[in-house]
Amino acid sequence: MVPIYPASTYHHPGGQPCEFDYSRSGNPSRQQVEEAIALLEGGCSGFAYATGMAAVGSALALLKSGDHLIAPEDLYGGSWRYLTRVLPQNGVAVSFVDTCDLEAVAAAIRPATRAIFLETPSNPLFKITDLRAVAALARERGLLTLLDNTFMTPLLQRPLELGVDVVIHSATKFLGGHSDLMAGLATVAEPELGRRLKFFQNAFGAVLSPFDCFLLSRGIKTLKLRLEASQENARVLAERLAGHPAVGRVLYPGLPDFPGRETHFAQASGAGAILSFELKETSAIPPLLRRLKLPIIAPSLGGVETILTHCWSMSHAALPAADKQRLGLRESLVRISAGIEDVEDLWEDLEQALA
Ligand SMILES: Cc1ncc(COP(=O)(O)O)c(C=O)c1O
Repeated sequence: MVPIYPASTYHHPGGQPCEFDYSRSGNPSRQQVEEAIALLEGGCSGFAYATGMAAVGSALALLKSGDHLIAPEDLYGGSWRYLTRVLPQNGVAVSFVDTCDLEAVAAAIRPATRAIFLETPSNPLFKITDLRAVAALARERGLLTLLDNTFMTPLLQRPLELGVDVVIHSATKFLGGHSDLMAGLATVAEPELGRRLKFFQNAFGAVLSPFDCFLLSRGIKTLKLRLEASQENARVLAERLAGHPAVGRVLYPGLPDFPGRETHFAQASGAGAILSFELKETSAIPPLLRRLKLPIIAPSLGGVETILTHCWSMSHAALPAADKQRLGLRESLVRISAGIEDVEDLWEDLEQALA
């Protein structure tokens, strides 16, 4: 085991610096998880941050005042808040487009465009962006691509191999896996980009603590076992929900009639452990949330326990109601991040709550 090194600073023998000189710049416990994410994603260097949002913000520090960024219309509410409230304040303009539509992405490129930010599957509407196609377009036009790979993890989707430049994770989710830590990760395949991210990580300082590095490295060791079990539970729940009379649309890449299925499986090896569904009646949401006994009702995902989120009021509360409506995020939508419980227990509970 790599120990938890709480040291904030390191002895410089005879005044000479060693491999580690100050913990914000480098720490052996952190180095372990940074090497792990780089290895898993096929990157040359990795970076660990205090939260997923710190990873998003630090990666977007690659942009400077006057630059323009293209981003998906439908993305995690916290990233949306950062892109709409923080980046413009720093002089970075952002255009939101449907990144599933390659022509729309191409049409949004301006002379000042420097990067395209992506999320696929998108959260919570499961829109699928063709990563190879967007990355190729970006390369051709000299733009960087950044992808939030939180939903898939490197077990199911390895974006650097598809041409993406920067891969970001909220490691609070599947990589940590136990809902007991907040962490963010980023990795790149190109050494110069790595050097720039390393500079920002040290300059900004939102690094992951040594104890949380220990928790995260322990979580990563069981990612495959957890995610495969959760993914199987998600498949069973999605299929059964699709046949339930109280349920309207079920959004899950593993369903045979899922619209982005072909694109998704051309770039990912599994459907993942998250699904969304809409109730036919919005008025059925409060009773559902009251009656459920097993899932944790909370704005998160990726834990060993099933987590159910009412996206309208929780994960996407930062988005104005009009924007949610325009994007098709309905108040009747619920997201489930399947855990590793016995699926029959989960289904029994969902059925009684939907009755
Ligand atoms: C897809 C996605 N990206 C980023 C984040 C932000 O991560 P954190 O909450 O660790 O800051 C989240 C959090 O829910 C998320 O779901």
